[in-house]
Amino acid sequence: MGHINPDFEAETVVITGATSGIGREIALRFGDAGANVVIGDIEKEPKDADVPTHEAIEDDGGTATFVETDVTDSDQIHRLVSEAREYGGVDVMINNAGLFIGGSVRDLEPDDFDQIHSVNAKGVYFGIQAAANDMIERGEPGSIINTASISSSYAQFEQVQYDSTKGAVRMITRGSALELAEHGIRVNAVGPGQIATEFIEGWSEEAKEAAQEGDLIKDVPLGRAGTPVDVAGAYLFLASAEAGYITGELLFVDGGWQVF
Ligand code: NAI
Repeated sequence: MGHINPDFEAETVVITGATSGIGREIALRFGDAGANVVIGDIEKEPKDADVPTHEAIEDDGGTATFVETDVTDSDQIHRLVSEAREYGGVDVMINNAGLFIGGSVRDLEPDDFDQIHSVNAKGVYFGIQAAANDMIERGEPGSIINTASISSSYAQFEQVQYDSTKGAVRMITRGSALELAEHGIRVNAVGPGQIATEFIEGWSEEAKEAAQEGDLIKDVPLGRAGTPVDVAGAYLFLASAEAGYITGELLFVDGGWQVF
């Protein structure tokens, strides 16, 4: 199979939740493609690698910086986006930070409901707000990409609180795309399927063991769980000029999970 070689030279990408997992891989790929990468995360040390993401990009000759950011606090997100001004301002905003809390709808604690919605839905909403206002103020429209999920469209057992955040991401994406189109800003989402990351920590022991043994919650037509490498390319595509006429879209990257 051939490859598309992305070129984001001199562009600035802000990405939340890029210390570990899917976000880390997206950040590394944008770094490889020449972008200035601004990472916002509550953690600096990765769960799944030895070197912080921004250091790994710089070790490879790229440009990256880490800004400690809790996406549940809109002031911190606005500060993260304003840090990108040092490189000329945000061109691509990726709202990826996410959290999983499982459990039955019958006994979830209200604080857990607030926490998961604050990170997964409110964090995306205010990430869009901060990036869009910055782009409009600078007169430099760009691209915004949110991390949704198969859970944006499909209910999964004992995941109401998670699925509802990802359903919200789907509609936050569509509504923002509608409103920001007149400014030339595109807003899209990527919906990963079951991806092998440390996100699994939040799963029940039973689900974790099953996934580790390759026994996924549901059969995947392509026959395996995905990896961050499988997912990252979709973000580069949606951010690129190749996707210049795509907005309000949710692109599933799930090995065919949602086709049956
Ligand atoms: P991960 O746990 O490896 O990475 C999540 C990242 O978000 C971490 O770097 C973490 O420190 C950061 N984060 C958590 N809370 C934060 C906060 N309040 N502020 C800033 N950063 C915060 O998980 P993974 O799998 O890479 O998840 C990334 C995104 O992909 C999430 O939005 C998740 O919901 C979504 N997703 C993951 C799937 C999977 O199977 N792993 C499937 C579908 C969607």
